[in-house]
Amino acid sequence: MGYDLAMRVWRGDADGGELRDFTVEVEEGMVVLDAVHRLQATQANDLAVRWNCKAGKCGSCSAEVNGKPRLMCMTRLNLFDPGETVTITPLRTFPVVRDLVTDVAFNYEKAEEVPTFAPGRPTGDDGHHRMQQVDVDRVQEFRKCIECFMCQNVCHVLRDHEDKKKVFAGPRLMIRYAELEMHPLDTNDRRDLLREEAGVGYCNITKCCTDVCPEHIKITDNGIIPLKERVADASFDPIAALGRRLRRH
Ligand code: F3S
Repeated sequence: MGYDLAMRVWRGDADGGELRDFTVEVEEGMVVLDAVHRLQATQANDLAVRWNCKAGKCGSCSAEVNGKPRLMCMTRLNLFDPGETVTITPLRTFPVVRDLVTDVAFNYEKAEEVPTFAPGRPTGDDGHHRMQQVDVDRVQEFRKCIECFMCQNVCHVLRDHEDKKKVFAGPRLMIRYAELEMHPLDTNDRRDLLREEAGVGYCNITKCCTDVCPEHIKITDNGIIPLKERVADASFDPIAALGRRLRRH
């Protein structure tokens, strides 16, 4: 059965904008992204919105819905009362390009700083690499990330302190570091980078990132905290730190 949905959508660009009210006819079973598309098709043809798979796998359609970061394609309208206004705003942590589209280049720039996977010599006599199942599971958890950047959006270090973007890469990148750093076949050592460039010490374990991850990755417990421990071991064990410094020269 259809009904009229009250929507409030942020319209504007890098120079500023405002919330605009719309009423859109929607049907049972629709998700927020469907309502946005209906709005685009019927009343606001120039509304900018980024989306791709409509299946919660591409991470493109992240926005704040009634103040909470969500994938619009995975947020059913029946989460809200029919009389409730659904307010949609762009992710706040990144600069707005237009309407609901933000510039998330920061994340890709930070990703470029992470040294890639560097497998060592094969671990098996037959010339194949071998991994324990526990290591496979751990790396697979981190690789579930769809780069929706909702964790980056809610992390207060990035959200409330623009200047910290220079020194803290954020939870998404911590998971990228974790995926490589905890891979048993990898030979790169990223611990100095993690401390100095990625700023792992700026995370104060509020766990807001974990709460919003649509892939349910335990970002803090399984990723960031073990990384902090590795960095602490490397940096504050004087013999290990000296050895690493000598190896670098
Ligand atoms: Fe930010 Fe997550 Fe740490 S929200 S402060 S990276 S636990």
